[in-house]
Amino acid sequence: MADPIPTELFALAMRQDAVTFAHGMRVGMHAREMAKALGMSKEEENHFTMACCLHDIGKVLLPHELLAKKLPLEADEMALIREHPVLGAELLTSVLGSRAPYLLTIVRSHHERWDGTGYPDGLYGTAIPKWARMCAVLDSYDAMTWQRSYNRVKTDAQARDELWRQRGRQFDSYFVELFLDMSPSSITTT
Ligand SMILES: [Fe+2]
Ligand SMILES: [Fe+2]
Repeated sequence: MADPIPTELFALAMRQDAVTFAHGMRVGMHAREMAKALGMSKEEENHFTMACCLHDIGKVLLPHELLAKKLPLEADEMALIREHPVLGAELLTSVLGSRAPYLLTIVRSHHERWDGTGYPDGLYGTAIPKWARMCAVLDSYDAMTWQRSYNRVKTDAQARDELWRQRGRQFDSYFVELFLDMSPSSITTT
């Protein structure tokens, strides 16, 4: 937890396509607010924020044409996109070795689901690293409320309803409730 964010990561972040980069920045913004709500130390807040900014870093290894493609995607295309947590974890390990293990957990595990049906490892409940459980809520909120090539946008209210419905299924209920209790002013969708 005490590791600083290695400078090599900034170069990696700049290789992301613009849409993924912007998504990461917004997730990082929400992460900072969640860190404050949890009373994290400033050091932890900075680590969590930066790690959430880079949660989709594995997408730098996917073709930009695929990331920009409109719905519906073919099954093999969706399968390729679903490889980004493992690709990102492998990339981080190759660049950083054993440094920044907290970041590695977010990159690898942010698509795990509380009910064990997520990927890539099918982790269940608290077996999912805590930081990844937190990032999953923030990531999904942003994915639902911002138009990207392979999703359909929801309003803030629709996205909040969906997070609420998925507590205890896709997400850790504690972090859903924490997020929904955060000040609306800290959540910007326009
Ligand atoms: Fe992701
Ligand atoms: Fe994401």
